[in-house]
Formats: sequence, structure tokens, C-alpha cells
Amino acid sequence: MSAIFVIVLAILTLSKTNGQDISNVKQLYTDVFANHQKEILPKIDQNTPLQISVTMYLMTITKFDEVDETIVILGAMGCSWNDGGISWDPTSYGNKYYTVLSSEKIWTPPITLINAVDVLGPVQGDTKTNVYIFYDGNVTWPLGGVMSAKCTTDISKFPYDSQTCKFQFLSWGLDQTELTLNLSSDPFSAQFFTPNSNWNFSSYDIRIISWNGYSTLEFSITIKRASLYYSVMVTLKQNTRKLEHISGTTALLVLCILKDSTMSSSVS
Ligand SMILES: *[C@@H]1O[C@H](CO)[C@@H](O)[C@H](O)[C@H]1NC(C)=O
Ligand SMILES: *[C@@H]1O[C@H](CO)[C@@H](O)[C@H](O)[C@H]1NC(C)=O
Ligand SMILES: *[C@@H]1O[C@H](CO)[C@@H](O)[C@H](O)[C@H]1NC(C)=O
Repeated sequence: MSAIFVIVLAILTLSKTNGQDISNVKQLYTDVFANHQKEILPKIDQNTPLQISVTMYLMTITKFDEVDETIVILGAMGCSWNDGGISWDPTSYGNKYYTVLSSEKIWTPPITLINAVDVLGPVQGDTKTNVYIFYDGNVTWPLGGVMSAKCTTDISKFPYDSQTCKFQFLSWGLDQTELTLNLSSDPFSAQFFTPNSNWNFSSYDIRIISWNGYSTLEFSITIKRASLYYSVMVTLKQNTRKLEHISGTTALLVLCILKDSTMSSSVS
């Protein structure tokens, strides 16, 4: 008797979690998203700012250019918030607790790198990604791309230099009375990181500040020049025409090091 009861219970539990089929998903889409107004800032209480929780992912340090004073990284952000315009009862849709849709179907925050060197526009550009939407309106959205920022170069310790570069993100057009960025409980991740052979990633800092009325995420990274010989060669090859920008003594130092490195490599 009790064995049969356990089996029945198991089947019931199974059908509870796996009972969804495509018709549930289509019905959910029709009921919840077909007339969803994605242009509206999805705050239930219009007097409190919408809180966007953010995790920063560093994928790689693509390039650091001393002369142009720019850094290029490949980075991503995981954003989550609650969309007050979305909710459904999972039991009415075959126990569908969440759904995955294209990000163009709902409101998404216009996260902008404000110290970008190329364009002022959403980090994500026009690229669509998938969003996870939960029955209570919780949304999780990954965005990312190539990010180039202005970075004041300090070459006083060249070629043993470290550089610290800051990326400032905010939701352009939505000040802190409308929207705040908040750090997630684990706000930085290097789990998808690929090293760069010229620059070692040494440390990071991540914080939220209020800046010009905007809730702003400041992400700083410190990178350390990795291979002496290689960077000297690259600096000389790429920047011979630009050497006048570097002070005379540094140029001399570059040449001395190059001579040293050539000698030692011909010895070995
Ligand atoms: C939605 O987010 C809130 C606040 O972070 C959390 O308490 C709640 O458990 C989340 N709901 C789901 C279904 O994950
Ligand atoms: C999010 O940030 C705002 C402004 O910095 C703050 O008032 C609020 O308490 C934060 N929320 C959480 C959940 O940390
Ligand atoms: C950079 O990282 C590599 C690999 O982890 C290490 O072998 C090398 O010594 C580092 N260079 C510097 C300058 O820290």
C-alpha cells in the first residue's frame, strides 16, 4: 500500500515539474507578453527608484594603448530587477515558473559606459540576448561587449608599470530618483577570463557612487605590464612615429633595454 502511495506521489511530483508543454508557453506569452508595454519604466511604486542589481564579468583585457591613453576590454554584466508589469500564476500555465524570451520583448535598462572613447550608447548596442523572466516579475538579463575607456597613462615606472583604468557605467537618461544600480552579493566574476600575454590582471575595485545625480557603477582594474622584451619591441615598432610624445629619458631607457634584451637573447 505504502509503496504504491510513494509511486503515485512520485508521478504526481514529476508531472508537477514536467507538466509544461508548448501550449502552456504560448498561452503564457499571449496572456502576459502580447500586450506588454515595454516602453514603460516597470516600477510598481513610481516614487521609489527601480533597483538594478549588477554583477560585472571581465572576459579579457583586449588592449592597452599608452599613447592614445585608452584601454579596451571585453566585459559583461549580469543585471536583475523586478518588472512590476509582469506576473503570472504558475499553476495556470502547467507550473511554468519562468520563461526565456528575447530581450527586445521587455523593458531593459539603458546601461551606458559614460567614459567610452568611441560611442555614447547602451553597452549592449543593438544586440539582442535572452532574458529569464520569473512568475513574480524578476528579470535576469546578461549584456556585454567590447568596452573602450579613456585611461590616463602613468609611464613613470615604465617598463615595470602598472596602470589603473576606470569604467563608469550608468543608466543614461534615468537619474537616481528613477533608477539605482546596486551591487549583487557577488559583484565581480573572472570565471570567463582569458589572460592577455602583454598585461597581467592584478586587481579590481567595484563600487556604486552617486555622480551628477546618477547612480553610477565604477569598475576599476589594475593591470601590470607582463613581458618586458615583448612590450619594448611592440612599443618601438608601433610607436616609433609617436616617440616624441614620450619624454627623452624614457625613449633612451627604451633603447637601452632593447639593447640589453637583444644581447641576452643572442647569448642564450
Ligand atoms: C525575486 O527577487 C526577490 C528579491 O531579490 C527575491 O526575494 C525573490 O525570491 C525572487 N523570486 C524568484 C522567483 O526568484
Ligand atoms: C540600492 O541602492 C540604493 C541607492 O544607493 C539604496 O538606497 C538601496 O538601499 C540599495 N538597495 C539594496 C537592496 O541594497
Ligand atoms: C604575469 O602572469 C604570468 C602567468 O600567471 C606570470 O608567469 C608572470 O610572472 C606575470 N608577470 C608579471 C609581470 O607579474
